[in-house]
Amino acid sequence: MRILLYFLLVGQTQSFTLSSSRSFHHDCHDSALSSSKSSDDENNSCSSSTRNKISRIGVLCSGGDCPSLNACLRAIYKSATQNEIEVIGLPRGFPGLLLDPPLQITCEKDTFASPMMLTKGGSKLGGSVGSDYKLIDSLSLDEKASRISAALQNLSIDGIIATGGDTSMNLISQMLQHADQDSPIPFIGIPKSIDNDIPATIYSLGFQSAVTTASQAIAAVRDTAESHRRVIVVECMGRDAGYLTLHTGIAGGADTILIPEFSFDNEKLLQHVSNVYKENQCAVIAVSEAATLPDSGKSAYYTTADGKSRLGGSAEVIARYISESLELDARHVVLGHVQRGGPPNAFDQVLASTLGAHAVKAICEGYDQKMVNWNGTGVELLSLEQVRNVPPKSIGPDYPELVAAVQMGIYCGEITKNDS
Ligand SMILES: *[C@@H]1O[C@H](CO)[C@@H](O)[C@H](O)[C@H]1NC(C)=O
Ligand SMILES: *[C@@H]1O[C@H](CO)[C@@H](O)[C@H](O)[C@H]1NC(C)=O
Ligand SMILES: *[C@@H]1O[C@H](CO)[C@@H](O)[C@H](O)[C@H]1NC(C)=O
Repeated sequence: MRILLYFLLVGQTQSFTLSSSRSFHHDCHDSALSSSKSSDDENNSCSSSTRNKISRIGVLCSGGDCPSLNACLRAIYKSATQNEIEVIGLPRGFPGLLLDPPLQITCEKDTFASPMMLTKGGSKLGGSVGSDYKLIDSLSLDEKASRISAALQNLSIDGIIATGGDTSMNLISQMLQHADQDSPIPFIGIPKSIDNDIPATIYSLGFQSAVTTASQAIAAVRDTAESHRRVIVVECMGRDAGYLTLHTGIAGGADTILIPEFSFDNEKLLQHVSNVYKENQCAVIAVSEAATLPDSGKSAYYTTADGKSRLGGSAEVIARYISESLELDARHVVLGHVQRGGPPNAFDQVLASTLGAHAVKAICEGYDQKMVNWNGTGVELLSLEQVRNVPPKSIGPDYPELVAAVQMGIYCGEITKNDS
């Protein structure tokens, strides 16, 4: 109701046409509007020059799944239909648009508006599969662009909202711009990543839920560590960012937290684990998949069945190192995809609902090439330029949760001001 009210207030003087006509989006944007919007990041109001005719939007989930994508899809669906905008599901992410005909599903109200969507993990639209990535790689930029133009024509959609990490969001926005130079189809991105490494965000969708799940796993292995007087090293995801491991370690009560941003000193690590063990007869260590290893100073990689090199294996190496150096019974656990599944927590349900609804609001107001972002005090629209070509976020020495962990006596590696 609030969104509708908003439209009534700001849209009264111009025809905010919510017709069901399938006329393509060219009449939604004159070039003056496009340029004024793209150069004005602060202006979140639906300016009086806005003349949108959005009648059908496509929604897709790009990249890996995470908890709260369905909650986000529900918010998009409910906000759009509330404003008489039809929602088309674009399954299997961005590659689905490259197929002929493009993949699409009808978003049924019974499913997409259902409160069940709030708690179900994964994505009703599904994610990309292995062959999809091969397809992307095999096509030139021009080929991809022309296929996307054809797909957008075929689906008659006036805008796209996508959840994704920074990589996939950039890819999609570039494709859309390239595909449709004269009149870019509005694109609004919603940040999602359990790694929490998307530039300019505080929390992206899925992160807090992954922390909840992973910290419960740490608490569970502590029971065994205590009973059997073991050291257990728990490997968390997060790629090159330590957010998931740090937050999980704090929430799960880890004694040591090793993240990629700060390498550790071998002797200090052993001394710390030894001290903790003497006191408690057990120890739990949270380690990032990309944490540096004791001898090489590099991250661990393993080779998949199809010959690809992937990050992972740090916990096993560190457990063996502790076992051999301290003569303790040290084991390792790799949490892996457990962290990406399961129901979202309430924080993510609210964040996903908020960002999904604001994405629809933004697209109705004529914004393009933006990412909706909760910045701690409000929801803002960031230019994708602010996200593109910016390195992923990582933890610096002053990150408050890191400072807190160190303050509590948790060994987090050698934290130096120029090591971040
Ligand atoms: C928003 O944009 C409109 C039209 O371009 C302009 O008249 C208005 O002053 C802007 N508002 C702010 C707060 O910048
Ligand atoms: C979209 O493609 C399908 C399959 O090729 C075709 O049957 C349909 O008519 C197309 N729709 C439009 C609007 O072009
Ligand atoms: C966060 O977003 C709100 C709403 O757009 C804005 O008023 C505020 O200045 C932003 N805060 C920061 C720190 O950017």
